[in-house]
Amino acid sequence: MTEPSAPGVRKAVIPVAGLGTRFLPATKAVPKEMLPVVDTPAIEYIVAEAVRAGADDVVMVTGRSKEAIADHFDRHIELESALEAKGDTHRAEKVARSSRYEVHFVRQGKPHGLGHAVLCARSHVGDEPFAVLLGDDMIDERDHLLEQMMAVQAERGGSVVALMEVPPDQVDRYGCAEVGSDTASGADVVTVTGMVEKPDPAEAPSNLAVIGRYVLHPRIFEELDSTPPGRGGEIQLTDALLALATGSGPGSGVTGVVFRGRRYDTGDRLDYLKAVVQLGSEHPELGADFSAWLREFVSSADGPAS
Ligand code: UTP
Repeated sequence: MTEPSAPGVRKAVIPVAGLGTRFLPATKAVPKEMLPVVDTPAIEYIVAEAVRAGADDVVMVTGRSKEAIADHFDRHIELESALEAKGDTHRAEKVARSSRYEVHFVRQGKPHGLGHAVLCARSHVGDEPFAVLLGDDMIDERDHLLEQMMAVQAERGGSVVALMEVPPDQVDRYGCAEVGSDTASGADVVTVTGMVEKPDPAEAPSNLAVIGRYVLHPRIFEELDSTPPGRGGEIQLTDALLALATGSGPGSGVTGVVFRGRRYDTGDRLDYLKAVVQLGSEHPELGADFSAWLREFVSSADGPAS
């Protein structure tokens, strides 16, 4: 482990250039990050989370057919004026909200993988620790995962990844972490000693999956620069993190924060449906009616077939 970073993490990188093939055909023309969870696109929840955690400079790594994301974070003066003219200040405020974030865009010419997407943000980030939030991975706002990861990074230096226990037969969908033998079982903060991308469940070092939050030391850029294409022919962030976990010198070392809260992978159809139902049933305007309907729906589905 190396020198802790002095000031807090200010910059957040959100890669949104993936093809979203799991959600086709919906994502043929609409970026998966723009799919609504109730009435707000998933990506807006994620930007709000980064800002709540203290990042005041967000850079999205974007690609072809993703213009709707940039539009969403832009002003829409005509719409705001039309709503205000009708006296609908509530909706006008909802429309304006996303344009108040400081969001920058860099482009990833071709989706060469998550590691390559992060590398595309190098000149914007510079030489300071930064957060990475995947654009289709939502963490419930009541769970303060990113803040906790930033605090761990400030204390231990190096890089920090978020880990979540998954059923062993699902580990092949994720990057998977090997944790130090000194790590107490059930601990929330663990030393990462190895990482492997989408391992065969029989060979996985653990059932701790890497989920879509990272706080990275800028040395990751040097590692990514020299990381050859890995699994799927893509430049994998997992491979560069493995080099940091097993390397030495400034910026090396990887710590895992084990997350036990609520997370939705909105790029996955089933998880997306769960996010809509959970957040819909808790929604301040719709929650009571939706929950009542849901209870009725579930009890009628459970009842005897007539
Ligand atoms: P995913 O693997 O979930 O995205 O990457 P994907 O490739 O779009 O998904 P499927 O499997 O085809 O449905 C995680 C995050 O990294 C971004 C994605 O946009 C997503 O937010 N990403 C992935 C990039 O920005 N560039 C890439 O080359 C790959």
